[in-house]
Amino acid sequence: MNKHEDILLDHNYDGIQEYDNPTPGWWNWLFAASIVFAFLYYFFFHIGYAGWTLDEEYGDAMAANTRKLYGDLELKPDQETLLKYMKEPKWMAVGQVVFKANCAQCHQADGSGGTGVNLTDDYYKNVKEIADIPRVVKNGAANGAMPAWGPRLHPNDIVMVSAYVATLRGQNLQGRPHEGDLIPPWPSAPAGAAETEPATTGG
Ligand code: HEC
Repeated sequence: MNKHEDILLDHNYDGIQEYDNPTPGWWNWLFAASIVFAFLYYFFFHIGYAGWTLDEEYGDAMAANTRKLYGDLELKPDQETLLKYMKEPKWMAVGQVVFKANCAQCHQADGSGGTGVNLTDDYYKNVKEIADIPRVVKNGAANGAMPAWGPRLHPNDIVMVSAYVATLRGQNLQGRPHEGDLIPPWPSAPAGAAETEPATTGG
């Protein structure tokens, strides 16, 4: 008797029969390994530390490049400046990078809150008007539960991240529940604000 006969499948198509060949061991291992790899990859790049995907790396590089345009620009942490930069996507990319690097661990990358309050709703504890944001960011709040960033961040970065925080408002993302008081909407930006380019050193 042919040694293969025991693994010959029952069916017979006009004399054509087939063996019940198991998939080879190496193939099974490769299959299992690719599933394990997919999980590791997903957790590492998509759930892990922000900034490891190509897309985020690109965003960081773009923002670093934009930041060079600060030059000798000195941004005032006032309402007019915040409203102006809120409307400029390339500067808000800088604000977002500062936020992800320094603030996301407490406020979440999307601002929905964790240890820190939810920044996407219309309720604030330490903010009554938009210019209060850079003040809180600079000096901190709640005895350091919200750290003071004045000593750690470039003053222009404080303005950019504050304008970015102001743009997070109104999305009402699910996260930490409302805290503090409902405050009036931000004033609208002065006309033509978005067209002005920041002063550069020209080089
Ligand atoms: C160590 C955790 C932590 C980090 C990091 C942190 N925050 Fe906070 N933040 C808090 C807490 C807690 C509060 C609420 C303070 C309070 O209860 O009055 C807060 C409040 C705020 C508020 C005021 C919100 C309100 O409702 O009054 C703003 C704005 C803010 N943070 C922005 C930032 C920005 C921008 C950064 C990064 C530069 C940052 N935070 C980093 C914990 C943090």
